[in-house]
Amino acid sequence: MKFFVDTADVAEIRDLADTGLLDGVTTNPSLIAKSGGDFIEVLKEICSVVAGPVSAEVTATDADGMVAEGKKLAKIADNVTIKVPLTWDGLKACRAISQHGTKVNVTLCFSANQALLAAKAGASFISPFVGRLDDIGHDGMELIAEIKTIYDNYAHIDTEILVASIRTPMHVKQAAMIGADVATVPPDVLRKLANHSLTDKGLAAFLADWQKTGQAIL
Ligand code: E4P
Repeated sequence: MKFFVDTADVAEIRDLADTGLLDGVTTNPSLIAKSGGDFIEVLKEICSVVAGPVSAEVTATDADGMVAEGKKLAKIADNVTIKVPLTWDGLKACRAISQHGTKVNVTLCFSANQALLAAKAGASFISPFVGRLDDIGHDGMELIAEIKTIYDNYAHIDTEILVASIRTPMHVKQAAMIGADVATVPPDVLRKLANHSLTDKGLAAFLADWQKTGQAIL
C-alpha cells in the first residue's frame, strides 16, 4: 500500500519525505488555509520535495471553472494531481482533465455508486472519506470493502482507492487488509504507525544489557 501524507505543512512533509517512505501528498482548501501560505507557492514547494502525486483541489463548482483551475494548477509541476469534488460537474471535469493527460483525484466520496461513477469518468484516484462516515455512525471501512469488490469485478478499472479522512492507525491497518491502493494519513497518525510500547521496552532492555558488555560496534 502506498502512503500519502494529508497535510499542506511543508516542514512536516520534508521531515516525513526524509524517511523515504512517503509516496505522495494530499491537500485540500482547509489544509491550505491551516498552513497560512499562498496556495500556488505552497504547492510548488511541496512538489519540489515529493516526487510522487501531489493532490491540489479546485475551488470552482462548475465544470468549466474546474477545468480552467485544473489546467493552471497542473502547470505548476508534473506531479500535480487535480482534485475535484464528487458532483456531476466534478465528474464532467474529471473526464475532461484526465483526457488531457493529467491525473485526477475525485474527492468527497461517501458511497460505492459515487466511486463507480468516478472510475467511469477516468479518475486516477477515488478518495472515500472513512473518518467522516464513522463520525455520523456509519462504517467507513465497509465503504472501502464495497469499492474494492466493485473495482475488482471489472478488470478495465484502474482507478486507485485512496483511503482518506483517516483518523487512527487502525484505519490504516484495516485499509491495508482490504487491499486499498493508497492511504492518505495525517502526519501524527503516520508517526504513530511505528510506535509500540513493547518495542520501546525491548530496546531499553537490549541497550542496558549491551552496556554491561563494555563493547562497541564502531
Ligand atoms: C483527503 O484528501 C482529505 O484531504 C482528508 O483526508 C480529509 O480528512 P478529514 O475528514 O480529517 O478532514
